[in-house]
Amino acid sequence: MTRPYAEVIGDPISHSKSPRIHGFWLEALGIDADYRATHVTPDALPHYFAGRRDDPAWRGCNITVPHKVDALAHVEDHGGVRAAIGAINTAIRAEDGVLVGTNTDAAGFAAPLNPFDLAGKPVTVIGAGGAARAVLFALAGIGVGPVTLLNRNVEKGAALLSSFGLDGQAVALDSAVPPSALLVNTTSLGMTGQPPLDLDLSVLPGDAIVYDIVYAPLETGLLAAARARGLQTIDGLEMLIGQAAVAFALFFGAEPPRDRDGELRGILLG
Ligand code: ATR
Repeated sequence: MTRPYAEVIGDPISHSKSPRIHGFWLEALGIDADYRATHVTPDALPHYFAGRRDDPAWRGCNITVPHKVDALAHVEDHGGVRAAIGAINTAIRAEDGVLVGTNTDAAGFAAPLNPFDLAGKPVTVIGAGGAARAVLFALAGIGVGPVTLLNRNVEKGAALLSSFGLDGQAVALDSAVPPSALLVNTTSLGMTGQPPLDLDLSVLPGDAIVYDIVYAPLETGLLAAARARGLQTIDGLEMLIGQAAVAFALFFGAEPPRDRDGELRGILLG
């Protein structure tokens, strides 16, 4: 029988860290399967799903830029992901042979927040794009208090808050950060090659958590500023590994060895 495999699709795709994450877990667990990166252009997306549908070795795929919205047209949406988040990052074949889409970004984002009690607490979110949708979906699930959403386009931020039924308000990106239990950057600001995200964190309480989904560099200016203030921080590799862990279990039917995250992080940074 052909060796089972899963893969990540995108355009471009060579930069993806997913093969290293899934490959590490497959090897650690001794699972005889592959995880690869496959370059799929937008034009080729229908052909891609049509072909994989009938490939018995294919366990599923992760979906990255620019296909996270368009891929919805090629899969069943059993979990209501289209209405909730509007984008998928994972597709698998269900037992009846149907391709099903899901989004593991929200669960991957939320996992590192599990030890904290954020119910009813005020939160600040930077950004209103695709990543913000998964973050706001997760925050609504946690039942956080009012959300202040800072975004360049304020109307877009306000529309997003109301679509997730979150209390709070959208304000301009250069607005003052209000006192919050959690502050999350969902934009690419602060990423290598992008403009910095300059926020004044001085009003955050001493037990606030600052979470940046950017992982290149791992210590963004935002996280450095938070650490300088002695605040708790969560970096972008946490969400990256977290969303991969949920997908891995769907593809290969096994929980990844999260007790080896330290080693995995070293590989990803190496
Ligand atoms: P992603 O899927 O990674 O979230 P996206 O959907 O393009 O990407 O969203 C990018 C987010 O980063 C948006 O909130 C965007 O602000 P706008 O909604 O006003 O466009 C924000 N963003 C990106 N580049 C930015 C920049 N140079 N300055 C300010 N905000 C920026």
